[in-house]
Amino acid sequence: MKKTVPYIRNLKNNRVVSMMTAYDYPSAKAVSEAEIDIILVGDSLAQVVLGHDDTLSITVDEMLHHVKAVTNAKPSALVVADMPYMSYHISKEETIKNAGRFIQEGKADAVKIEGGRKRKETIEALLDAEIPVMGHLGLTPQSKNLMGGYKVQGKTLDLARELFEDALLLEEIGCFSMVLEGVPTIVGQSISENINIPTIGIGAGNLTDGQVLVLHDLLGMKSKEYIDAKFVKRYDQQYETTLQALKSYKSDIELRKFPTENHSYDIGSNISDFLKEWKKEIKKILS
Ligand code: KIV
Repeated sequence: MKKTVPYIRNLKNNRVVSMMTAYDYPSAKAVSEAEIDIILVGDSLAQVVLGHDDTLSITVDEMLHHVKAVTNAKPSALVVADMPYMSYHISKEETIKNAGRFIQEGKADAVKIEGGRKRKETIEALLDAEIPVMGHLGLTPQSKNLMGGYKVQGKTLDLARELFEDALLLEEIGCFSMVLEGVPTIVGQSISENINIPTIGIGAGNLTDGQVLVLHDLLGMKSKEYIDAKFVKRYDQQYETTLQALKSYKSDIELRKFPTENHSYDIGSNISDFLKEWKKEIKKILS
């Protein structure tokens, strides 16, 4: 069964909502087969797939390339496309055009944008264009320069109040869900308890309505030396597994242990006849 926006909204107070990032066809297949509720094609792909230092330089075209790969997997999960930096900051017209591409060309089910009260009119314009919106509050990576780095948000009464009011506003204007990133547990909990749409936490404690992680963080697709954010749990060490597999491959081909006969094609039953004729052929070709 394909999961829809109303389905996700109705999970509030029923069960925990699961969300995971995916950026390509095989990972979307796996995430969906694991029955995760939402696939976020996050702009985190700028860092974990494309190797940029932050999320600021990824473009709509680059994001769209990955959104298409994910929706080609026809996942049952709801697919949310992350609107990249500068794709919703210039004008309502450009915002709708860019978000519309994710829906029309990318076949995403919804978009996500970062920010609270500043984004009120932008979100309203998207909803007017029939595009469902997931909000994103707290540590919003696209605001890294304004925040002075990736810092936990809402740690004072005033800042917590601002976040709380932003969350109420996002619900009121019609977001179907929102990410709460990098906020103290008590802030994640109190927002979740006082709004009627699912909150999806990352570094927001264990009392939000749902959780999300970045796939490459969860899989450990990073060398051992890489220092993860506090909220990351590595469920696997796939960088190390990949490295070991590549080393084994290199060693096998150098020692001619691969490919074996099982990985090779032969000519058929009358090999000795073929060889006789073939040697003559080669002589002819080379003379
Ligand atoms: O881009 C992303 O992966 C995200 C999640 C961390 C919420 O925005």
